[in-house]
Amino acid sequence: MKQRDVIVIGAGAAGLFCAAQAGARGRSVEVLDHAKKVGRKILMSGGGRCNFTNMYAGPENFLSQNPHFCKSALSRYTQWDFIGLVAEHGIAYHEKTLGQLFCDDSAKDIVELLLKECDKAGVTITTRCDIVSVEKTESGYTLNTSLGEYQCESLVIATGGLSMPKLGATPFGYKVAEQFGLNVLPTRAALVPFTLQDKDKDVLAELSGIAIDVNAQCNDTSFREAMLFTHRGLSGPAMLQISSYWEAGDALSINTLPTEDAQALINTARTDTPDALLATCLNKVFPKRMVQSFIEYHQWRNVPVKQLSHSECEAIANTLENWQIKPNGTEGYRTAEVTIGGVNTNELSSKTMMAKNVEGLYFIGEVVDVTGWLGGFNFQWAWSSGWAAGQVV
Ligand code: FDA
Repeated sequence: MKQRDVIVIGAGAAGLFCAAQAGARGRSVEVLDHAKKVGRKILMSGGGRCNFTNMYAGPENFLSQNPHFCKSALSRYTQWDFIGLVAEHGIAYHEKTLGQLFCDDSAKDIVELLLKECDKAGVTITTRCDIVSVEKTESGYTLNTSLGEYQCESLVIATGGLSMPKLGATPFGYKVAEQFGLNVLPTRAALVPFTLQDKDKDVLAELSGIAIDVNAQCNDTSFREAMLFTHRGLSGPAMLQISSYWEAGDALSINTLPTEDAQALINTARTDTPDALLATCLNKVFPKRMVQSFIEYHQWRNVPVKQLSHSECEAIANTLENWQIKPNGTEGYRTAEVTIGGVNTNELSSKTMMAKNVEGLYFIGEVVDVTGWLGGFNFQWAWSSGWAAGQVV
């Protein structure tokens, strides 16, 4: 039987960071993970370069049933703290866009940073360890595992969400929460591409590979980023972002011309080039390959613009700026970057991440009902929540 002050279950971003913090305070810490390798999502993230934080991270970039919950941790361990640590480790990085910071070289640098911090703090990391059961004792917790029994005073659950089961995701954290009587909010895939209804897919699949700048809106939230047509549906940053706000049955409102006045564009064409076809007019602002399919999809008449009636012009302009499309669904956890929902924040202290009614039991990272936007925010939540628990476990 092994005795530790702190056991962290989950060797991902939040778990490793928390373990390093606790170890640095002199606590004996062991991290247990069922996977063969630690930090697999970190290695996959940001196209292999890990978008490890965002310069503009703030509470407004997170979804949660209680939007105030994340404020404490985010303000006590900020993006600038993590950026400082990255610099201390000599990792070169750059801003790609919108404050998103990526490693110049490889996401491996971030995993190495975490492993070095754990090593410096005397943390033991054990992989390929299945947790069979968790029980509360008078002085802490007993874990039954495939590698024997463990006892600890503080137990930190950092097993993440349900996205990408291939990378080791399981509902373990939610089950532990329920075992100890904590409420778990319903979960759903987020930061995920949309799939389309057959009637839309049949035409739009032809546009696969084309990306355009859009403003995508749903449920009073909008994102101005790129949208990518795929052979399954709609993807790209704008679609991933808005997917977090979308619920089954909702329509998306997409402005495909966010920098232009569509009505003015058509009016100018009617004055300057009245004999030009509608397609010729639209070719000026959209990729050529897109225009023909888009005209067919919307059943517009591809005639000289002078032949279009006023109401036709108005309808075209309106659709270009406010295209209503009802996705069939999303690609689900298979390709989602994150999971919305999870351990209800009402059950946790926002200062320490400990369960209010279960002494010594902590939840950090994505398992908690705090979900960031695309752009480095989810890792920042992992660092901030891991840090907060790491100060007290
Ligand atoms: P995380 O999922 O990282 O770690 C959980 C750990 O628990 C894993 O090691 C897992 O093996 C382990 N575990 C699970 N069940 C277990 C069990 N039953 N027993 C033992 N161990 C168990 N975010 C961002 O900010 N910038 C980015 O660039 C990206 N990019 C990105 C790409 C892809 C492809 C994905 C899937 C996700 C991202 N994200 C991201 C999101 C980000 O990866 C995610 O929010 C964090 O990794 C969450 O950190 P956690 O430590 O909470 O969970």
